[in-house]
Amino acid sequence: MDHGGSGTEFVLEARGVSKIFGQHRALDGVNFGLRSGEVHALLGENGAGKSTLIKILTGAHQPDAGAVVLDGVSVHFRDPLEAQSYGIGTVYQEVNLLPNRSVAENLFLGHQPTRFGFVRKSLIARNARALLSRYGLDIDVEAELGSYSVAVQQIVAICRAVELSGKVLVLDEPTASLDKHEVDRLFDVIAKLKADGLAIVFITHFLDQVFAIADRVTILRNGKLIGTEPLAGLTRTDVVRMMLGKDVSFVPAVTGIEERAAGPAMVEFDGCGKAGKVKPFSVSLHKGEVVGVAGLLGSGRTEMARVMFGIDQTDCGEIRIDNRRVELKSPAQAIAHGFGFCPEDRKAEGIFGDLSVRENIIIALQGKLGWFRALNRDEQMEIAGKFAEDLDIRAHSHDMPVKLLSGGNQQKVILARWLATDPTFLILDEPTRGIDVGAHAEIVRTISRLREDGLALLVISSELDEVVAYSSRVVVMRDREMVAELRGDQITPSVIVQAIAAQPEGETA
Ligand SMILES: Nc1ncnc2c1ncn2[C@@H]1O[C@H](COP(=O)(O)OP(=O)(O)OP(=O)(O)O)[C@@H](O)[C@H]1O
Ligand SMILES: [Mg+2]
Repeated sequence: MDHGGSGTEFVLEARGVSKIFGQHRALDGVNFGLRSGEVHALLGENGAGKSTLIKILTGAHQPDAGAVVLDGVSVHFRDPLEAQSYGIGTVYQEVNLLPNRSVAENLFLGHQPTRFGFVRKSLIARNARALLSRYGLDIDVEAELGSYSVAVQQIVAICRAVELSGKVLVLDEPTASLDKHEVDRLFDVIAKLKADGLAIVFITHFLDQVFAIADRVTILRNGKLIGTEPLAGLTRTDVVRMMLGKDVSFVPAVTGIEERAAGPAMVEFDGCGKAGKVKPFSVSLHKGEVVGVAGLLGSGRTEMARVMFGIDQTDCGEIRIDNRRVELKSPAQAIAHGFGFCPEDRKAEGIFGDLSVRENIIIALQGKLGWFRALNRDEQMEIAGKFAEDLDIRAHSHDMPVKLLSGGNQQKVILARWLATDPTFLILDEPTRGIDVGAHAEIVRTISRLREDGLALLVISSELDEVVAYSSRVVVMRDREMVAELRGDQITPSVIVQAIAAQPEGETA
């Protein structure tokens, strides 16, 4: 560590930082300065370089040029652990905790309270419970972390980072899997830490959240710094224009989707459910229609999708395709019937990180064709190329491991995988999560296009504006039960919210 620094207004700084991966310049001479007592939003499209910049600031990557400066002194963190020892706590975009260890162990990994050199399990558990209760989380801290939902894991990762952050807290898309209530709690914590003088970096694709808590924003585009500005004085349109370098409409205005209830349904779930996971529900879908599913996290939305795709077997009711009764004992059977499912948690359930972009795209199609009819490389290239273009997947090469793509581009790869199987019924669980504003509109358009092509789609989403834009019916889930099916004029964000909150229309809280 050299001590050539001088006084500075910044706690943590990147000075002229560049990072090159192979042929690709992920960051190009970027300056970034973080003050104590501020919430600084770092914004940009998928692949703009946000995660790369914070990985350099926190020792997970080394810069190829430029310097990281802490309190005016140039530093070279060997790894995130060293950065932690200087009071820099980080939640990386992909939760990197240990799913097979307990919640408590994960919280205190590397800094457990010990007694005579022994880690004290009971003390750790007590501390863990106390810590989580501040976030309103009352769970068994001795259970394996992996047994909990992504949202809970995310909160554990945040608690851990907050505990470690004496000086700087870095949050890379921490709210991606949280519901509104959890986001509010996180914001309360952030406000308090800010008042205590902590410097906070916040990466998100939710502009509302930026406007709710950020003091300043820094915008990156294609690895270059576009600017750093106080948020006051900026409008949403300004921010988006800086991110994209052009104007965009947020969500294409599609309204008045006709219901296709005429004619027989293509797929029907009649009284299906799974004890302890989701109460019996009845949903039917016609060709060329999108059924939206709304509900809070944990309301049974994903559980419903899992039953529909044969991951969990229904223990009641029946499933019919084109009016013929079918059994769905496994996802393989569902795929054989032309079903596809893009899960919400791409890291755990979707992406094969070490396989190439091309392999990740063709894998479901290959499985459907059977391994005796192996696609040759040219066929694979062609299919991958087509869908990568359709969805604007940004990768320098389709042969690179998919884990090297930015988070949002990985999400699109999973969507491409299922589109490649040419499904008749496609389930999308939070398809726009972690995806930038430009690509959001793109995915909404893709959903509308697929509907016009005659697909039946079930789309689970927390983005009510989007649900309203493409759905001809909306199913509302609450407490693991399907509580409403809205159609026609009922499909508005406010009616959906009322149904989610169990409030009769017209009544206020
Ligand atoms: N280890 C790596 N090897 C090769 N390329 C990489 C690596 N990490 C990132 N990249 C590339 O660098 C670019 C910037 O990626 P980064 O993850 O920083 O984007 P991001 O702004 O965080 O995007 P998102 O909003 O999708 O998370 C992308 O093109 C990505 O594919
Ligand atoms: Mg990222």
